[in-house]
Amino acid sequence: MDNEVLLRLEGVSKSYGALKVTDDLSFSLREGEALGVLGPNGAGKSTMFNLITGDVRPDVGRVVYQGRDITALAPSARCRLGIGRSYQVPHPLAGMTVFENLLVAALYGAGLEEGAANAHCVAVLDQTGLAHRANQLAGALTLLDRKRLELARALATRPKLLLLDEIAGGLTDHEAQALVQTIRDIRAQGVSIVWIEHVVHALLAVVDRLIVIHFGALLTEGPPAEVMASAAVREVYMGVEA
Ligand SMILES: Nc1ncnc2c1ncn2[C@@H]1O[C@H](COP(=O)(O)OP(=O)(O)O)[C@@H](O)[C@H]1O
Ligand SMILES: [Mg+2]
Repeated sequence: MDNEVLLRLEGVSKSYGALKVTDDLSFSLREGEALGVLGPNGAGKSTMFNLITGDVRPDVGRVVYQGRDITALAPSARCRLGIGRSYQVPHPLAGMTVFENLLVAALYGAGLEEGAANAHCVAVLDQTGLAHRANQLAGALTLLDRKRLELARALATRPKLLLLDEIAGGLTDHEAQALVQTIRDIRAQGVSIVWIEHVVHALLAVVDRLIVIHFGALLTEGPPAEVMASAAVREVYMGVEA
């Protein structure tokens, strides 16, 4: 039997002035699924995440989560419902330590009380390989550790749905492998995942299904091998005529 639908976008559009960044976008994610998102720069992938988290409101269309229309909900309320995300451009609370950054996410994002928040943050530090950085100021981290912190902050909110925006870019092969293992572990704990990523081999090591976004619209979707071999992907990425 198919798992229940966790998230559904229904005919979502968003324009900035004359620029239609999201164009009648519809897709769904089943509970427990890991979905990969491909598409060229500027295709509207990060905006799609903003529409799911409530950072941006659609002009038309609906966002449905756990069977409930959340289109009008504030980002903080969506976070409490279990929607966690990392940002493509890390923006930690630079003047706080790594641990304090996680604590803020656990207290206010997940709504945990202090004792539970502390314990949860220690576990997240471990899981993301940041334990040795716990007491460093977030603003002083290297890019790699900032990316790890993005993932860690998202996990600290205890997501049921985890949205990952290009967290493997710039990593060595070894680092990317470690990240893939971490994301597989997160998934094994029952978290559903949508992962936007240009590092395709990392993406393919995790996801069950791929969607391709082009000019804000859904170009194609399906099993990863099928999508990667499709004329649509060749056209978008290599400029080869279909
Ligand atoms: N707040 C905004 N105001 C104006 N244009 C925006 C805004 N946010 C995104 N855009 C534009 O929308 C397009 C899609 O952006 P984005 O969603 O970041 O794409 P992707 O993540 O696929 O690279 C880009 O052309 C970008 O410049
Ligand atoms: Mg982006």
